[in-house]
Amino acid sequence: MAALPVPLLAPLLAVVLLLLAGCGGPGAAGQRRKEMVLSEKVNQLMEWASKRSVIRMNGDKFRRLVKAPPRNYSVIVMFTALQPHRQCVVCKQADEEYQILANSWRYSSAFTNKIFFAMVDFDEGSDVFQMLNMNSAPTFINFPAKGKPKRGDTYELQVRGFAAEQLARWVADRTDVHIRVIRPPNYAGPLMLGLLLAVIGGLVYLRGSNLDFLYNKTGWAFAALCFVLAMTSGQMWNHIRGPPYAHKNPHTGQVNYIHGSSQAQFVAETHIVLLFSILPGRSMWLVTVFC
Ligand SMILES: *[C@@H]1O[C@H](CO)[C@@H](O)[C@H](O)[C@H]1NC(C)=O
Repeated sequence: MAALPVPLLAPLLAVVLLLLAGCGGPGAAGQRRKEMVLSEKVNQLMEWASKRSVIRMNGDKFRRLVKAPPRNYSVIVMFTALQPHRQCVVCKQADEEYQILANSWRYSSAFTNKIFFAMVDFDEGSDVFQMLNMNSAPTFINFPAKGKPKRGDTYELQVRGFAAEQLARWVADRTDVHIRVIRPPNYAGPLMLGLLLAVIGGLVYLRGSNLDFLYNKTGWAFAALCFVLAMTSGQMWNHIRGPPYAHKNPHTGQVNYIHGSSQAQFVAETHIVLLFSILPGRSMWLVTVFC
């Protein structure tokens, strides 16, 4: 067999090299590997997300699934300290709101693998806190699908508070995923309405079922008083913020009726306040109203 002339050999070699680099070369293999790692990560996260709405992460999981590329999903991470001995009252409240948000997403018809909700507890991943130079909890950070978190990816807790609705607005800003927050039902509103109707009904009954009481100053004074008491005890805030009636600590089983911070209150707390504003003043206003 005759040897190929040199001028023909060189381009042939070049073509072979190009083919090697293009189809079976390290570039394509890397791409395929990346794709495999990515789908493995997404599958893992989906499996966890199907079991609980907020995925608990330690340092290892955080580094592998949140920090390291490749990623095509956002992860919202709550950094917190929920162990009782940390005595972080705000952490517990923020956690409740975060669970409401994550649950609203998990059971939403719009649920996709574009975004995941996770948390790192200080006692399970203190190395992560160190790595991110974080020294306060709770902190919410969005780790976007591409690149590192930017300024706006850290939630401004001090400014916006930790209500699930506020968190949802921030998530929509950062990730374009819109979550409609669905809270467990709250019976305080109907209860107050019932109370008001009972009072009016009682007045009608006492007044002999006619509408004279509409012209009655006492009736109006009484209604105004009820209104003032309802407002000053925070019934309106209950409607706006929709807090739980009371908080039961899942670890100790102890029930709290008074909120730990001055930033919020439970429904039970407003009823206690209401009671306290009625009790000491009772004899006074009975005298003023009915004499
Ligand atoms: C991310 O990539 C994985 C693997 O290719 C894929 O299954 C998943 O649907 C992708 N997610 C999004 C939001 O495109």
